Formats: sequence, structure tokens, C-alpha cells
Amino acid sequence: MSVYLDHAATTPIIREAAEAMTAQLTRVGNASSLHASGRDARRVVEESRETIARALGCRPGEVVFTSGGTESDNLAIKGVFWSRRAEDPRRVRILSTSIEHHAVLDPLHWLADEGAKVELVDVDGQGRLDVAAFRAALESDPDSVALVTVMWANNEVGTVQPVAEVVELAHAHGIPVHTDAVQALGQLPVSFAESGVDAMTVTGHKIGGPYGVGALVVRRELQPTALLHGGGQERDIRSGTIDPPAIAGFARACEIAVERQPELATRLVTLRDALVTGVRREVPDALYNGDPGSGLDHRLPGNAHLAFPGCEGDSLLMLLDARGIECSTGSACDAGVPQPSHVLLAMGAAEELARSSLRFSLGHTSTEADVDALVEAIAPVVERARNAALTSRPAGGA
Ligand SMILES: Cc1ncc(COP(=O)(O)O)c(C=O)c1O
Repeated sequence: MSVYLDHAATTPIIREAAEAMTAQLTRVGNASSLHASGRDARRVVEESRETIARALGCRPGEVVFTSGGTESDNLAIKGVFWSRRAEDPRRVRILSTSIEHHAVLDPLHWLADEGAKVELVDVDGQGRLDVAAFRAALESDPDSVALVTVMWANNEVGTVQPVAEVVELAHAHGIPVHTDAVQALGQLPVSFAESGVDAMTVTGHKIGGPYGVGALVVRRELQPTALLHGGGQERDIRSGTIDPPAIAGFARACEIAVERQPELATRLVTLRDALVTGVRREVPDALYNGDPGSGLDHRLPGNAHLAFPGCEGDSLLMLLDARGIECSTGSACDAGVPQPSHVLLAMGAAEELARSSLRFSLGHTSTEADVDALVEAIAPVVERARNAALTSRPAGGA
């Protein structure tokens, strides 16, 4: 059995969600068909929508099912940009942060080629949006801002973002705010209504649900332009035959993740802090990246992100993997691309330090034994990675 410390990449499906999903897999009926089987499938979808709405603090009509976080982010960003610009052609700016996930950054870069003026506001050394810089960017010309998108909590270093302040500033000028809450849901208290945001991305496989399903929660007044055209499902915003098994599994996972969040967060904070203390005891020069505060208003409870000076993160990852310990050098979606993390660079880390970092992320199956296994393995692994880095350096090279 591996020691799985990569829950931020994906977390195991919970039994209840797998059961809810499998119960639907063998049933027939397109949720848009008018006959009895179709109506049964529709009932599953609408009951799931209500369950999700209760869990997320929104109205059922605000839940638009999608294929997951990437699609929801694309829909929010492109869709809201296009609809707001269509209402007023002066609205060409989008304000965001330099530490967003690629599911946000890449649509932003794509839109920049389509005429959008994208501004990625800086973060501080802990990875938190600089609110004063954000305010200055916003207030320089609010009428030209189509939308604001700021993640709820960062997927790499776990830093919780000042979304409430962003909402207050943007709403003073009538500008809609989208947030990517993919990592926050299930780890932090997340309420769409209380947050004040206008659109919010969530996904199933990060909360104990299935892969390939998620939602964009979006206020009804904010009708994003569709990216997918076809049968007109999901308020005409997202066409495509609806997937009742995946939606049923997602809804059950969402309900349970929200119900168990307080207890899980408390347990994970204790485990995470033990992991960080243990690793730093074994490797005294390891650096804790992100916000050192343990509280839920500071950092995701399951996130520990550490730099090991003198090591290549990739070597560490492979050496730990050989011992059955699975973690990440950053966002899993970047895996295989040998580039230092854009998040750490935006936080002001030197490239070498950014390359020497690992993310350990805990979740609902994590135990003290997992933490102990890592703490036991880390010192010899770091030593080997350091030696490897020394011998692979060109002679006389820095
Ligand atoms: C913050 C964040 N947004 C979006 C995504 C993409 O979600 P999905 O895998 O459901 O497309 C991820 C997944 O790594 C993420 O961490």
C-alpha cells in the first residue's frame, strides 16, 4: 500500500459516492427525454442539484453541471467576459492573480489574444493577493473591467485568498467576481451566498466524488455566453447529454464533504502540523512555503509545501516514490513539464528554491502512519537528492 500524500491532485472516491453512482450506471433514460425513463433520470439530476445547492449555500437554479474544474473555469471566464463585453464594449479588462491554476491562467492568456486586457495582480511572499494593488488596478478604470477572478485557496501552497475583500471592492463598481473553489471545498467552510461571489467553480474528484464532473455555480442574472452549443441543456449555458450517474455521485460526495468538513479540517491541521514539524526536525534547513499560520483563514488544512535547498524536487519525488510515498512537485496538472512553479516564482522565490519544493497534501484517508512514514524517509532521501545534485553539476558551475 502506498502512502498517498497527493490529495490535492485527486482524492479517493468515498464509498457513499461510488454507491450513488453505480446505482445509476445500469439505468437507461436520457434526462431530456419525456417518457418515464427520461423523467426518472431527470429526477435523479434535479434531486442531485438540490442536494448540491443545500451543501453549497446556493439556489438549485444556480448550479450548472460541467465536466469538472477546467470546464467550469473556462465557462466562467470566457462566458462572462463575452457577455459583459457584449453589453458594453468598453469592458475589456479582466483582473486576476499571478497564482491561479492553469485552468484559469490559460483561458486568460487565450482571451488576451482575442482582445482582452488581462492583468494578473501580484501576491505577497506568502502567496496572498496584494489587496492594495488589486484596488489600485480596479479603481484605475472600473468601467473597463469585465470581470474579476480570484481563487479561494491556492492549490500549490494552500494560501487562502482575501475573496471577501475582493468581492466588496468589485461590487462597489458592479463588477462580477468568479472564484475557483476547487481546493477549498471540503477543507474550508464554503458558502456561495455568504461569499458574495457571482460564480464559483467546484469539481467532484477533489472532494471524494467521481472524475469528470463538476459545476459552475452562477447567479441567474449573470448569463455567461455558452462555450458548448447543442441541445441547450443546463440553462442553454452548457449543452451536452446530462450524466446522471456522475452527477448522483458528485452530489453525494458534495453533501458529505460539507457535512464532514469541520471534523476533517481539525484532524488535518493536527496531521499537517505534525508532518511539517517532523520533516523540519529531520531536515533542519527545509523551508515551509506559504502562510505559516495553521488557521483555516490562513492555509488549507491538508497542505504542507516545503523547499529542500540543494535538491531537485523531481529527484526527491522519484526517490520518495521508490519508497512508496506519493507526493507532488506542485500542481499535478503541470507534471512532466520541467518548469519551476509559477506560484513560487510569483511569491518571490528564487528559481532554484522553486525547483527544490514538494507539496504534501492530506485528505480524508490520511493517517498518522502516513506522516510517520514520510518523516522517517525524508532525511535519507534528501541526502541522496543533494548528492545527486552535486555530482550532476558541471565542474566549477554554480
Ligand atoms: C485550483 C484548481 N482549479 C481547477 C482544477 C482543475 O479541475 P479538474 O481536474 O476538475 O478539471 C484543479 C485541479 O488540479 C485545481 O486544483
